[in-house]
Amino acid sequence: MRKNSESRAAVRLSTTVALALCLFFGPLAAAASREPVRARNGMVVSVDDTASRIGVDVLRKGGNAVDAAVAVALALAVTWPSAGNLAGGGFMLVRLPDGSAEVIDYRERAPLAATRDMYLDAEGNVIPEASTLGYRAAAVPGTVAGLELAHRRHGKLPWRELVEPARRLAHDGFPVSFFLARSLNHPRNAERLKRFEETRRIFVREWQTGDTLRQSDLAATLERVRDKGSEDFYRGETARRMLADLSANGGLITARDLQEYEPTIRKPLRGAYRGIEILTMPPPSSGGAVLLQMLNMLSRYDVASLGHNSADALTLLLEVQRRGYADRAAYMGDTDFVDVPIETLISPDYATRRAGTIELDRATPSSRIGAGIVRPEPTQTTHFSIIDSSGMAVSNTYTLNESYGSAVTVKGTGMLLNNEMDDFTSKPGVPNLYGLMQSEANAIAPKKRPLSTMTPTILVRNGKVVMALGSPGGGSIIDTVLQVIINVIDHGMTIQEAVDAPRFHHQWLPDAIYWEIGGVNRDTRALLERRGFAFRDNPGYTAGDTTIGEAQAIFVEPSGLILGAADPRGGGVAIGY
Ligand code: DON
Repeated sequence: MRKNSESRAAVRLSTTVALALCLFFGPLAAAASREPVRARNGMVVSVDDTASRIGVDVLRKGGNAVDAAVAVALALAVTWPSAGNLAGGGFMLVRLPDGSAEVIDYRERAPLAATRDMYLDAEGNVIPEASTLGYRAAAVPGTVAGLELAHRRHGKLPWRELVEPARRLAHDGFPVSFFLARSLNHPRNAERLKRFEETRRIFVREWQTGDTLRQSDLAATLERVRDKGSEDFYRGETARRMLADLSANGGLITARDLQEYEPTIRKPLRGAYRGIEILTMPPPSSGGAVLLQMLNMLSRYDVASLGHNSADALTLLLEVQRRGYADRAAYMGDTDFVDVPIETLISPDYATRRAGTIELDRATPSSRIGAGIVRPEPTQTTHFSIIDSSGMAVSNTYTLNESYGSAVTVKGTGMLLNNEMDDFTSKPGVPNLYGLMQSEANAIAPKKRPLSTMTPTILVRNGKVVMALGSPGGGSIIDTVLQVIINVIDHGMTIQEAVDAPRFHHQWLPDAIYWEIGGVNRDTRALLERRGFAFRDNPGYTAGDTTIGEAQAIFVEPSGLILGAADPRGGGVAIGY
């Protein structure tokens, strides 16, 4: 299916020429995957058909990209409960038609009662599942406040019109997609979900594609959110229900935690790659800084001439990834609490120094940089990208952290609670759910935000948005975003080819390659192994899984034509109008 490296080698154009051709005349070679969805006025790309459709309906009615984002996020809380949420958090990157851009940071915060060592036993060992399962794993949710703030700042349509479609879906029910059935039936998910009575009642059975899922408690919660907004969620009836259930079950979140929760407006990080401006996610995510650092390293090389996913291209990519993720582990945390050397990390000079130790004919062992172990598990987060007819673009990634979060459904609300506390460093030197090593900079503290990897990103050229993208995938998120970007800019792929193409991921520790079936042939693998790289037994990022990330991306041609590309790895759908 994919173009092989020989045909690529025949197209040895400099990256600048490749980029110019790609942006002005389309892809360099015939499409090897399906065509992207094309539209003139607006586009919504999300993980779920119904949610994308609701988003486009909002655009058609005259809503802007932020209105659509609010409606899509709330719809996903109903149709994609593994990651769509009311009681989780995330990041919304918005670029306005006037060229300004901001991030709404609605990441969860640690409760006031949280302490640095709260997940350690008396001997100082991490207690298994303490930060991932049940009420104590939950951080203070941010989604409802974040969406409301985004709407207040940028929305055009009335709030209630944006909440109502989600409420109706929860109330009337909707047909379970193949992908939702597969996710709910996944043995590890089903095993976690059935441990909590309320969750078991709503979500556990042998799901078949086409079954109807009705969520009446969630519908009632959405009705209150529709009528009273975040006032209800943080101070009203929904808050009361959350607090009753949390306090009866050892949760840490108090009334004061809810009352004091605030989203934060942040400036996106800015960088450039081969003349294209990159707007991306600042701390408390590591995503933007690591992405920019990796792009800075790559920009020192003629990536296009190496060919896509050749042994040489992969050696370079993996070495760049290893270095970026090592810095993530060492330095990153919530900058409202700790100092992170962001300016240095994203500076071209630093990238030159950092890339200086890359050898293209052999792997640098991660032990020359650090050491660690891994504990992978199935996970979900979700990303959607939206652009409207004014050119306003939204790139939003939000999550409960693991699939279905803490597995707790708050009694009487239908809402799953996040387990975002696991994104903190439970103990320095012990990797989190994603096998990521993290430092003291990401230690737990009251009100602090756990370090994230989510990387909502927007690319701008000559003042106009050319790409909006992001992905779930825990620690692999940044590498997924990176590869979609270089697939378009360096390898001249269409946005759909770029999203479809097999991915690779290296996160420094474990010192091994995460890969996708079909991404590497025997010869290339042998070459890489001879250079000192090790391939993990499990293809894919999580145990038993075969894929890496699930990008939802938009590309805008110079003519203004909008191209939407949903990721074929999941149930994603691009709809334009
Ligand atoms: O914020 C983060 O980086 C994680 N909580 C994201 C989790 C995730 O992507 C799970 N998805 N596949």
